[in-house]
Amino acid sequence: MPFELASILRKNILQLTPYSSARHEFTGEAKVFLDANENSMGSPIGETYHRYPDPGQEKLKAKISGLKHIPAEQIFLGNGSDEAIDLLFRMFCKPGDDQVVVCQPTYGMYAVSAAIHDVKTLNVPLTNEFQLDLGAIKSTCKGSEKLLFICSPNNPSGNAFRREDISDLLHWFKGIVVIDEAYIDFSSQPSWLEELDNFPNLVVLQTFSKAWGLAGLRLGMAFGSVELIEVMMKVKAPYNLSAVVQEMALKALALSGQVEEKVNLLLHEREKLLVALAGLPNVIKVYPSDANFVLVRFNDARKVYSQLLNEGIVVRDRSMVSLCEDCLRITIGSQEENKLLLASLQKGINMNAEK
Ligand SMILES: Cc1ncc(COP(=O)(O)O)c(C=O)c1O
Repeated sequence: MPFELASILRKNILQLTPYSSARHEFTGEAKVFLDANENSMGSPIGETYHRYPDPGQEKLKAKISGLKHIPAEQIFLGNGSDEAIDLLFRMFCKPGDDQVVVCQPTYGMYAVSAAIHDVKTLNVPLTNEFQLDLGAIKSTCKGSEKLLFICSPNNPSGNAFRREDISDLLHWFKGIVVIDEAYIDFSSQPSWLEELDNFPNLVVLQTFSKAWGLAGLRLGMAFGSVELIEVMMKVKAPYNLSAVVQEMALKALALSGQVEEKVNLLLHEREKLLVALAGLPNVIKVYPSDANFVLVRFNDARKVYSQLLNEGIVVRDRSMVSLCEDCLRITIGSQEENKLLLASLQKGINMNAEK
């Protein structure tokens, strides 16, 4: 049966008349703007911040469209990808009724967002190699699940999933397949963006928080069919991206060459760090990484975590997470930070040997 967006959207969303702001109703140039109840006396910080920002983020979308080779009508911009995740729940999942599928272990916000919306999460474990378990996913689903979250490269394991497995799920799943590509710029795998036109049930999430180094700005992207993005634009808060975010993002986009440089530096550091970690006697396994972090299994992760913390180095303890027993997730640092990390790990090993 061909995919029909209207058949899986919530009825209230399908029937929604969106809020129409002053900036929606008049978008041209004018001498005097007295239509939005802004403060005509200006703001303490000057500039044009007394004005509401562009609700359609047109300039920014045009730039991102050029960068990603995706039409602006297929782009949603939000307050981090977390906003896009939240909106997808609001659009597709009826509280108390609907279910979504999450392949664990993965990024925590899918399940948290589900819980916030009173939507049941069907947790399907990844295989021991942190790959998608197609058999388990298919036997868990009943056919009415609204969203399937696939995080590739996956957080916290760091690996990208096999492309043929994702393709299989895209053909098979009846609801929306959300591929979260927060870490795609660190991966050797191609993005799923190029497949957008082949799968009307595909939503790809990307973010400015990782490769772009703009986590503080809060800017995430969702890419999907024209029809689906149109609904996201209706459901979002009218002015979900501040003027500051839009300005700063445009500034960053004009300097995109620097991003490539920084990603390359990071990949070089990742390679060195992975080799160094694998050589430590208390390391059991360094998992392959397609991201800007690495999952490492230690003899005693809790102890290593505390020792690092004593030295002022914070990593993420994932040892309580399924399939991640005795694992720490370590973000790839700068050259200097990685040196400090390795020196601290070695100090811990020496201290334990002396006991
Ligand atoms: C897989 C994944 N998706 C999304 C996010 C959040 O992205 P944003 O900062 O755009 O909300 C994270 C943050 O760590 C993440 O790991």
